[in-house]
Amino acid sequence: PASATRTDDGSLAIGGVAAADLVAQYGTPLYVVDERDVQSRAVRVRTAFDDAFGLIGTRAHVYYAAKAFLTTQVATWMAEADLRVDVCTGGELAVALAGGVDPARLGFHGNDKSDAEIARAVEVGLGTIVLDSHEEIGRVARAAADAGTVQRVRIRINSGVHASTHEYLATAREDQKFGIPLTEAVQAAAAVRAEPSLAFVGLHSHIGSQIFDESGFREAARRLMDVHAELVQSGPVPELNLGGGWGIDYTEADEAFAPEDVAEALATIVAEACAERDIPVPEIAVEPGRYIVGPAGVTLYRVGTIKPVALETEDGASATRTYVSVDGGMSDNARPALYGADYTARLARTSDAPAVLTRVVGKHCESGDIVVHDEYLPGDVHRGDLLAVAATGAYCWALSSNYNHVGRPPVVAVADGAARTLVRGESIDDLLARDTGVVPAPAAGA
Ligand code: LLP
Repeated sequence: PASATRTDDGSLAIGGVAAADLVAQYGTPLYVVDERDVQSRAVRVRTAFDDAFGLIGTRAHVYYAAKAFLTTQVATWMAEADLRVDVCTGGELAVALAGGVDPARLGFHGNDKSDAEIARAVEVGLGTIVLDSHEEIGRVARAAADAGTVQRVRIRINSGVHASTHEYLATAREDQKFGIPLTEAVQAAAAVRAEPSLAFVGLHSHIGSQIFDESGFREAARRLMDVHAELVQSGPVPELNLGGGWGIDYTEADEAFAPEDVAEALATIVAEACAERDIPVPEIAVEPGRYIVGPAGVTLYRVGTIKPVALETEDGASATRTYVSVDGGMSDNARPALYGADYTARLARTSDAPAVLTRVVGKHCESGDIVVHDEYLPGDVHRGDLLAVAATGAYCWALSSNYNHVGRPPVVAVADGAARTLVRGESIDDLLARDTGVVPAPAAGA
């Protein structure tokens, strides 16, 4: 796993803490986050964009897309790394504020913001609100007017670029819910500029998530620059936000972007587009989530039931796949079931046993409850072993559920050989505490 290392005796450690020690203290399943890795990834992205856009004479703002993984501590880390934070609900907003993020450094997305969410954002002095529809322009304008302030806003554009990723992760096809079509951008910007309580910051585009093909980002940037240039003719447009979506390595088949390459490619496009049209270079914003936290997370599971299952082979030859069950699954990582996502699993101890075709599955009552589809693990994996699944830092805890009344595992941060809890796990008592129909147990002896 990316954030994990093997110690001299071959056993797994994360952030200098042995996996065995972590589970002895916190149990399994366990989300482990390598604090230094998160921080250095955040700083690396910021530095890459500062450098690339500094060279073309402008500034870059890196927002962390909090939906990937947000706790108060994560928000604090981002503020410390000098990143801004992007939220998409009142809940995320509350957590970011509780983590001490300066409201002026927050952005607020969402295709269905409630009036209460908008009022709250305006009231705390949010940096920018990203308008996702024509009707939202009026609603945010009224909220700002009511509060007696001028709210900075961006307009989210659906660039129509088809990012090559899973259908549910692509956000800029024509037939989906996000943003305003490119062709309506001028009209929307005029409506924003006509509102005295709104300040138009610029356009925004996000084409999807877990993208490896750079051409989609380039194409979206070109299309956005076209409209940006058009809007510059009728007034200032200080910024352009090009979203996130950079793919990370889940398995050996993946090839993650280097943020330096993304920054350079985007800077080149922006600089060229501005030079061609003789317009000022805007400040640029980006908002990666997965890239910053994904590789820094590892989930630790305890192995339970193991079953060899006969495989159906095309030539009728006999073959088996070993089903290794672990004590979590789709409640702590819904991504394989939702998107067919793939992961990499490793045994926490060393083994010389030959590797066998293995499917790591969860404990939930669904056959789609798969943690890793196909993995070659040592043939001597046995009940009680510890398994580590890599790159679970993004969209795993964030998407976790209580399916089958399983409590969410704790989240711990490791750094410099020490671990601490970021979020405590949920016990059965926690789950029952919210159920209003609990019948008191009869008194002892009754
Ligand atoms: N900006 C906007 C407007 C977004 O909607 C998203 C992600 C991001 C930035 C950050 O994208 P990232 O850099 O993390 O790819 N649950 C899915 C991913 C959904 C992404 C939603 N939006 C998954 O587990 O793969």
